[in-house]
Amino acid sequence: MKTVAIVSAVGGAGRTTVTAELATLLAWHGHPALAVECDPRGLLGFHFGLRAPAEAGLCNTANWSEAGQRSDDGVLFVPWGDPGSAADQGRMAERLEREPHWLRNLLAQVDLPANALALVDSAPWPSPYARQAIAAADLVLVLVPPQPQTCATLPPLRAALRDTGTAVAYAVTRLQPARQLHTDISVLLRATLDGDLLPYDVHEDAAVPEAFARGESFCRSTPYSQAAHDLQGLASWVSGWSLLAVRGKAGPDSVRDMGARPMAAEADRT
Ligand SMILES: Nc1ncnc2c1ncn2[C@@H]1O[C@H](COP(=O)(O)OP(=O)(O)OP(=O)(O)O)[C@@H](O)[C@H]1O
Ligand SMILES: [Mg+2]
Repeated sequence: MKTVAIVSAVGGAGRTTVTAELATLLAWHGHPALAVECDPRGLLGFHFGLRAPAEAGLCNTANWSEAGQRSDDGVLFVPWGDPGSAADQGRMAERLEREPHWLRNLLAQVDLPANALALVDSAPWPSPYARQAIAAADLVLVLVPPQPQTCATLPPLRAALRDTGTAVAYAVTRLQPARQLHTDISVLLRATLDGDLLPYDVHEDAAVPEAFARGESFCRSTPYSQAAHDLQGLASWVSGWSLLAVRGKAGPDSVRDMGARPMAAEADRT
């Protein structure tokens, strides 16, 4: 199993949405898919049809069979669970700081086939939750919405990721091409991130919050929407990357080396 951490240094970048939709699409691609929530706000389950925050989860049970639930699309998802009182949450945050590989060790217990993918949703970086997700990851997928805040927070995040030696890919999210500021910042991000920025921009699309409000996957309910199309591209790329990673051909420089090539086809040929 390979683990992909979905990270951003700004709130509302689309991490939880991308985690849930990627897990669903990867399950459709034939990967056993696990979606893991490393964010005490407990929103991930709502993307899989839950109507209330899950009681049991990562934070209060190490027993995957108690904490895990299966979505209609075959994704096994593990919510954070009820974080308890403010004191409980403080103790948990301290534990995450003390045990930087807590999540990594938990994921190591999961018995899924080599082509399985775990997608980890996290709270915004920097936080103990984002650091856990990054420490558990074989690939960090950083979401960069084209906002000034993204540009301001990107250098320290990039420096922290460089220190980990983990493969890192970036994707623009919530792009509104009609807004001049968005196109300007996208150009800047492409120049800055060069080969590490994937060519699969996720556009701002009204279908996304509408599907969330219904507790549905927008890739299922509006498969021809712009955002569903964008997520399909991203999912194909992650699928291809994971196939190369399983064969040991996707090291820290893999994203830059692979660039924008159609990943699934590439992996099939190698
Ligand atoms: N591509 C998109 N188009 C339109 N709305 C979007 C898109 N992506 C996310 N949203 C909406 O933006 C809001 C935030 O998305 P989401 O919760 O996925 O982001 P997040 O990065 O996890 O946020 P947080 O920092 O709160 O954890 C949600 O209402 C979601 O429906
Ligand atoms: Mg979120």
